[in-house]
Amino acid sequence: MAIPFHDRDGWIWMNGEMIANRDAKIHVLSHGLHYASAVFEGERAYDGQVFKSAEHTARLFRSARLMGFEIPFAAEDIEAAKRQVMERMGFANCYLRPIAWRGSEQLSVAPGATKINVAVAAWEWGAYFPDRMKGIRMTHAQWRRPSPETAPCAAKAAGLYMIASLSKQAAEAEGYSDALMLDWRGHIAEATGANIFFVRDGVLHTPIPEGFLNGITRQTIIALARAQGLIVHERAIWLQELDTFEECFLTGSAAEITPVAEIGRNRFKPGAITEKLMAAFHTATHTKV
Ligand SMILES: Cc1ncc(COP(=O)(O)O)c(C=O)c1O
Repeated sequence: MAIPFHDRDGWIWMNGEMIANRDAKIHVLSHGLHYASAVFEGERAYDGQVFKSAEHTARLFRSARLMGFEIPFAAEDIEAAKRQVMERMGFANCYLRPIAWRGSEQLSVAPGATKINVAVAAWEWGAYFPDRMKGIRMTHAQWRRPSPETAPCAAKAAGLYMIASLSKQAAEAEGYSDALMLDWRGHIAEATGANIFFVRDGVLHTPIPEGFLNGITRQTIIALARAQGLIVHERAIWLQELDTFEECFLTGSAAEITPVAEIGRNRFKPGAITEKLMAAFHTATHTKV
């Protein structure tokens, strides 16, 4: 088993200071732990440069506002924290996890005067799906993404991951890598931690992010595809349409571009368009800006 996170060497930026990894602790009565008042980011650095770093930081601040709090640092402080953590850890290629959460000053559903804490951690993380090139096997999730009237869906908020985590746990227990989640209306939404794209007759189709995160990787892929002259339809996609698609892939900071070989009884063949976009994404992530 991998070394647990709490028992690793290294450093975490926490509330403006660099703290030894083993000392980066919170109190058990933290509001963020009990009531999911936490927002976070997932980012990757390639050759020493965090991909779309400013966009991720901006989303962290937006997520916090959607959760009713302000991050008590400037965006530049978070940008500097990411650089400092990478430097201190000696990482050029890594995953980064900024997080902000309500502390333990008081504990009730009303967050009251809880202090906002912020941390930035980084670790080396290879492919999110180790068997990525073969195309992953997905099943159908039992849970649906909630409507925007039920939860602040545009926030990358900890609470929204409860149904994702349950769905991924159930999928893995059955030998799958991930699960396809529908939205509250029954439209195809996304995977448990990544957005989804389909290809039919050379055209890309992807759901409109109405009840789920409009991923930064998703937006990057749409722009890269259009720059290559491909047509991208953002639209409501029904489950029955799975029969009509030839290629399928997931996008996300952790997942990067991951071809999908199977969703339940449907089969897909990682093909030319997926490969072309994977190559374009590799170039984009490794280009110095
Ligand atoms: C639920 C969910 N959807 C989509 C994404 C993709 O977002 P991004 O490309 O900004 O990482 C992620 C990953 O962060 C996610 O957790």
